[in-house]
Amino acid sequence: MDSQDVYDDLEEVLYTADQIQARVDELAADIDRDYADKDVLIVGVLKGAVMVMADLSRALTSHITMDWMAVSSYGSGTKSSGVVRILKDLDADLMNRHVLIVEDIIDSGLTLSWLKANLESRGPASVEICTLLRKPEAAKVSIDVKYVGYDIPNKFVVGYGLDFAEKYRNLDCIGILAPHVYE
Ligand code: XMP
Ligand code: MG
Repeated sequence: MDSQDVYDDLEEVLYTADQIQARVDELAADIDRDYADKDVLIVGVLKGAVMVMADLSRALTSHITMDWMAVSSYGSGTKSSGVVRILKDLDADLMNRHVLIVEDIIDSGLTLSWLKANLESRGPASVEICTLLRKPEAAKVSIDVKYVGYDIPNKFVVGYGLDFAEKYRNLDCIGILAPHVYE
């Protein structure tokens, strides 16, 4: 679906499908360059990172390995709590691997800082983070993020994998959800 299909639900389109594609291609070029002499395991965080994983991985020009994790931050509605539960763990052993976590969005940073520490405890050679979106004003913890697509305002966004109540993931752009949808 595109922005016209959910016209009433969006306050604003932040990034069109074409803009996202171009930015993901740039991130992939940076990753290709940085991992030129290394094998990288890219870890997608379900479900939000599905779209960025699909596009980013196809834009990379070297062989990679892909794995998936599902985590849930306890907390209701649109806020995360920092208490994280693993719903699906990785299949891969991380020992001596170069791991790149791929996320859709970093909000408070609580989920990712927990996840990064968790993966670092498994003996990898390195753990870095790539996120399509980041909300700098919402940060509660500082984490080192190597690749950031866009820094965005502290508003609830949907599309390109990001959901509200499991909807809008298949929206091709990223938009600010109109408050009347969730209030
Ligand atoms: P924290 O706060 O731990 O949260 O960095 C990260 C997770 O919270 C969800 N999240 C959002 N989901 N639009 C969404 O659809 C948003 O604006 C948004 N902000 C946070 C998301 O699951 C992310 O992984
Ligand atoms: Mg997520």
